[in-house]
Amino acid sequence: MTEEATLSAGHRDMLRFLTCGSVDDGKSTLIGRLLYDSQLIMEDQLSALTKDSRRHGTTGKEIDLALLVDGLEAERQQGITIDVAYRFFSTTRRSFIVADTPGHEQYTRNMATGASNSDIAVILIDARKGLLQQTRRHSYICSLLGIRQVVVAVNKIDLVDFSQAVFDSIVADYNKFAAPLGFLNITPVPMSARFGDNVTTRSDKTPWYQGPTLVEHLEEIDASLGSVELPFRFSVQWVNRPNLDFRGFSGTIASGRVAVGDAVVVVASGRVSTVTRIVTADGDIDSAVGGEAVTLVLADEVDVARGDMLCHPQARPSSAAQFAAHLLWMDTDALLPGRQYLLRSGNLWTPCSVSSLRHRVNVNTLEKMSATTLELNEIGACNISTTRPVPVDAYAENKATGAFILVDRFTNATAAAGMMDFPLRRASNIHQENFLVDKQARGALLQQKPVILWFTGLSGSGKSTIAKRLEERLLRDGRLTYTLDGDNLRHGLNRDLGFRDADRVENIRRVGEVAKLFVDAGLIVLCSFISPFRAEREMVRDLVGPGEFVEIFVDTPIEECIRRDPKGLYAKAKAGEIKNFTGFDSPYERPTNPEVVLDTTARLPDDVLAELLERLRPYGLG
Ligand code: ADX
Repeated sequence: MTEEATLSAGHRDMLRFLTCGSVDDGKSTLIGRLLYDSQLIMEDQLSALTKDSRRHGTTGKEIDLALLVDGLEAERQQGITIDVAYRFFSTTRRSFIVADTPGHEQYTRNMATGASNSDIAVILIDARKGLLQQTRRHSYICSLLGIRQVVVAVNKIDLVDFSQAVFDSIVADYNKFAAPLGFLNITPVPMSARFGDNVTTRSDKTPWYQGPTLVEHLEEIDASLGSVELPFRFSVQWVNRPNLDFRGFSGTIASGRVAVGDAVVVVASGRVSTVTRIVTADGDIDSAVGGEAVTLVLADEVDVARGDMLCHPQARPSSAAQFAAHLLWMDTDALLPGRQYLLRSGNLWTPCSVSSLRHRVNVNTLEKMSATTLELNEIGACNISTTRPVPVDAYAENKATGAFILVDRFTNATAAAGMMDFPLRRASNIHQENFLVDKQARGALLQQKPVILWFTGLSGSGKSTIAKRLEERLLRDGRLTYTLDGDNLRHGLNRDLGFRDADRVENIRRVGEVAKLFVDAGLIVLCSFISPFRAEREMVRDLVGPGEFVEIFVDTPIEECIRRDPKGLYAKAKAGEIKNFTGFDSPYERPTNPEVVLDTTARLPDDVLAELLERLRPYGLG
């Protein structure tokens, strides 16, 4: 048998499935039953289990099968499953990997992880309870993550006297709910995981049921993922160049197959070459398929970097800097459209933002609701805009390359799991025009180094007062300046924005873009905004070159701002007349590493100005 044939045979014989459902629906017991029945339990494990069952079990003297799989001590004590655990078992006909995922809502991310790695889902329903919120939620997430076949395991059928009527009514409910989810196949099975009815062996207590047992069904189901039949996709993990004679691109084939002699194209640049060698740890091979780790050597010296995608020229993904996607939000910090996150797709990392949130999905009713944000565990459809084009494959067509994650730039936490839907052609074919006169030329004419002086601090901290005096002084010194001020811009450019978090993010994003243009015009730009979020201040910093952004933190304590209350706003906020007021019911994130910190408490403005000028000397000012 050739290597390829072995591999695809391997694909056919292995089924990956996940179990999901509500907390007490009996997932762990079912998996325990599967492991037990497939006789994977070693004798010593069995005797330990008998002891444990007496201590923790809920089944009296019998062996508690759930204890087989509820491996974590924490789980045992809390009586819940809290992580994705992968279990392995096999029958004479097939091998199985089971992802055991938690039922609690706060663990949706684990459930999503399990679903993204599975071919089919076994959705457990307690026969006494019928469809619950988690049943709906998990079914929806399964469909979103590309699962097309589900088994509806109507469990604990013994507790409803093996009633066909109960079973039929649950099945009818489920079919009705799941109709819009696009499953190709919904197979209901009445079962008792605890007593083994219809799990591996047919139950004589459900004579009315003619279908297969769960295991028979899992053995027979055709879940060929077809990843080998999909177009070839290879995301370069690293450029392997041990010496001048060898240059290869290493990574794992995401999908499809590649052979020596194939033409390949680098998606980002469009450069085409030919595969001359496929190198593996065991030597060269002629061809390779999805899942294999290889190093590809190309005939030409084309530019390829980490994260680049290689594919066949006739079957390329779109390359787009804007695309539509679904997001499953996984962070306790809500999504803020406009904020920068890092997008990871394959081995490619790129800054991105959610340019618009089209709707949120109510996972209980599948209704689309309008939304301005996504909270933990919420799912929404949005448009994403990246700083450079990324390969876009629809997740529905290619799970391996259509999936991505968003990462919080500051905490490094995974903020969302994403599924690409389709590329957007907005603002495409717009090239960056390079003009002959640039920032340096304009700065030279004005005899100054353009820079953004960014004042941040609470309302009433004195940002605008200091900025005004500084500007006056700079003008006297012959500098050309411009001031962007929160109150002023909110009368014009940002007239449509209020003070919710999302509005403030957008406020600063726009101001940043304007400030960047003014820097390009050669000006010294003074910006005075509360700018309460670290992420957006850093975003503005990244818009301009090194040394062109000076963060000036006007660190006046809130008590002092309240005492001054120049616009009477603190009094109003206190009286509850203004909502989302910074320092009251809206946060202020102090700068962690500002270039300048000014305390204005009990100081004369001239004094503060003198200190500031001193600190600005390294920037050619003052
Ligand atoms: S920011 O948070 O988005 O950076 P910005 O600096 O533009 O705010 O505007 C702040 C100014 O708006 C304050 O100086 C104050 O005069 C006014 N304002 C009105 N309502 C609020 C509010 N809820 N929170 C903060 N400032 C407010």
